[in-house]
Formats: sequence, structure tokens, C-alpha cells
Amino acid sequence: MNADEHKVSSPVPEDGAGTGPAAGDDTGSAVDDSKASPAGEPTRLYSGIQPTGDIHIGNYLGAVANWAKLIPRYDCIYCVVDYHAITIEYDPDTMRDAVLDTATMGIACGLDPDHCTFFVQSHVSETMELAWIFSTCTAIGALERMTQFKDKAAQHKQNINAGLFTYPVLQAADILGVKADGVPVGDDQSQHLELTREIARRFNHLYGPVFPDAKTLYSPAPRILGLDGQGKMSKSQGNYIAMKDRSDMVRKKLSTAYTDPNRLRRSDPGNPDICNIFTLHKSFSSPDEVATIDAECRSAGIGCVDCKKKLGANMETAMSPIQDKYEDLTRRPDDVRDALATGADRVRALTSETMTEVRQSLGLR
Ligand code: TYM
Repeated sequence: MNADEHKVSSPVPEDGAGTGPAAGDDTGSAVDDSKASPAGEPTRLYSGIQPTGDIHIGNYLGAVANWAKLIPRYDCIYCVVDYHAITIEYDPDTMRDAVLDTATMGIACGLDPDHCTFFVQSHVSETMELAWIFSTCTAIGALERMTQFKDKAAQHKQNINAGLFTYPVLQAADILGVKADGVPVGDDQSQHLELTREIARRFNHLYGPVFPDAKTLYSPAPRILGLDGQGKMSKSQGNYIAMKDRSDMVRKKLSTAYTDPNRLRRSDPGNPDICNIFTLHKSFSSPDEVATIDAECRSAGIGCVDCKKKLGANMETAMSPIQDKYEDLTRRPDDVRDALATGADRVRALTSETMTEVRQSLGLR
């Protein structure tokens, strides 16, 4: 994959409103607060990733590659959300390393802290204060409807804690604490973001107009399926290719990956529209190669084994520079920590400003 050819350049707001500047319309550093944009188009973006395991190609294609692509055009704030990660069982002894590792891979994937704001959620405690206030503007019924809560409650039956239940309230506080008006995510976050907008509207209705309406911005690959073909690629399902996986591992994982189930023999024509390997080709292979594979799969001109080999080679081309950068950064952990501290300072200042306004609106202090 050529990073510039990734279909990550035009975020598509869920509600069909402004689609962001044209691809290639780069305007320089994203941390410049003076960035102007036409009415209705987001100016400040916020998004987060949990440090619950390796960043995988679903995270990368659905979110992180898009985040990197958006940096030159918007004021981008990205976060490693460790407070969200403690809503399921975790090991306190390895958490610090997991946070640093996620941040390191994020930077290697293009979240350059010189051009965006990158920080760790627990370093800004003001957000937690806002989450409490937002919990008073959130209907229990709305939280009960969250499919991610239902899924996680089913996965962690012995630990269905209140934090897991109010997880989306903290997510709303993350976004609205910095008054972000655009949130680039994969499609599994759409329900959480709808709730963020509901919370903002409820707060504004009760206490005055403080918060923006944050649009959902999808990447062109908003849902990457797992290698087992059983739903989305996910850290908890172990059905992923990690961004850290070197080419041997990638080839091994691809070799057993689910394809078009109707293609039982090499001579059966396939249907790329329902094949996850083809979806990955669309992200990692050139448009010409994608067109050739589409035609050859349908005519049984290429078999799944060769199709996967081509994908493996293109993934290696795309992933190995990121892996090299990641390895280089792991030798300089203090540089990563310093960058995260600088990011937290900026977010703390922005969120403190919001909190002053919020407390005044609520009649507190
Ligand atoms: P998390 O850590 O589960 O995922 C991080 C990002 O990766 C996207 N993603 C995918 N995209 C496509 N296909 C997949 N298989 C796939 N798996 C994951 C997710 O959509 C997400 O964008 N709740 C969030 C973290 C969060 C957050 C926020 C996000 C906390 N606060 C504020 C946005 C704004 C989460 O669990 O992401």
C-alpha cells in the first residue's frame, strides 16, 4: 500500500454534512488554533484508542491511518484511553507498558506529536469531573441500549461494573471536554457518538449552549472483519493481524483466513464482494491490482492461495516502515513520554477552560 493512496483522505460525516477539505488540500500543522473552516465543517477532531492489546489492522484501517491523514487539515487531538481500559479485567503491573506501547505504535503509524496533540486520558483529571456531570444528563435507558455494553457484559459476566455501564458517558466527556466537533472512528463507535450528541443537547438545553454537536467521521474502511469471518476484527477475539506482526506471521495468519465460503474448489468462481481478503486488498493494494483481482476471482483465474500471497506482499510493503519506526521509538521511550506529557498539558488547559464554563452554567462554585 502506498500510504497516500489509502482511502483515508475524505472523512464522511454520518449525517451527510460537510465532508472536509478535498484530499491533498493540506494546510500545515494541525495544532494551529487559528484554522478556519467553512460553517458546518469540523475544526477540532478528537479520537481515542484503548491500550488493551496490540493495535491491529482493523484499528489501523478503521481509525489510526485516517487520524494520521487528517492531521494536516484539522486540529487533531488523539488519546490513549486508559481509564476506559480499566472497565474490564487488566493487569496493573503491565498497564504502564501497555499505554506506552500503544502510544509508540500510534506515533509509528503517523500520529506525529509535533503536528497533533497526543496524550494519555488519565493524565487529565478534569475530564473525569465532566463525566460525573454528564452522568446526570444521561438516561439509564440510553446506556442500557448500548450494544457494546451488552456485548462486553456478556463477555465479562463476573465483572459487570458501573464503569462498564457508564463507559460512553466518559467517552462523551473526552470529546466534549475539548469541544471537539468531529470524531473519526470505525463504525462500531457510532452508537456511542450518537449518545455523545444526545448528552451535549441535553446539557445545552438544561444549562445553556456550551457544547458543539460532534459529527462522526468514518474512514473508507470503517469495519474490518476478523480473520475468522465471525464479526469485526477485535483484540478480544484474537482474530486479528497486529501492526507489529512481521511478514512471516502475516502470511501464516492469512493462510487460514476466511474467504468467500462458496468457493470450495480452486475452479469455483468467487465473489470478492463478500470476501474479507478482498476488502483488505482494497486497503493495501493498488487500484490496478484490486481491479485485476476482482476480475480474476470472479472468473476463477486466481485462487485464494495466490490472492492471499499478493495481499501478504503488499501488507509487508505497507507495514514494514511502520514496524521499523516503532522499533526505533521503543529505543527512545522518554521521547514518547515527553510528547505525551506535552499533549496532556494542552488538553488539560482546554478542558479546564471548558470546566470553568460548565461550573458557571450549573450554578456551582
Ligand atoms: P477501540 O480501542 O476499541 O478502537 C480504536 C478505534 O479503532 C476502530 N476499530 C475498528 N475499525 C474498523 N474495523 C475494526 N475491526 C475495528 N476495530 C476497532 C474503532 O472504531 C475505534 O475508532 N470507545 C473507543 C475509545 C474511545 C474514544 C473516545 C473514541 C474512548 N474515548 C472518544 C472516540 C472518541 C474504543 O473502544 O476504541
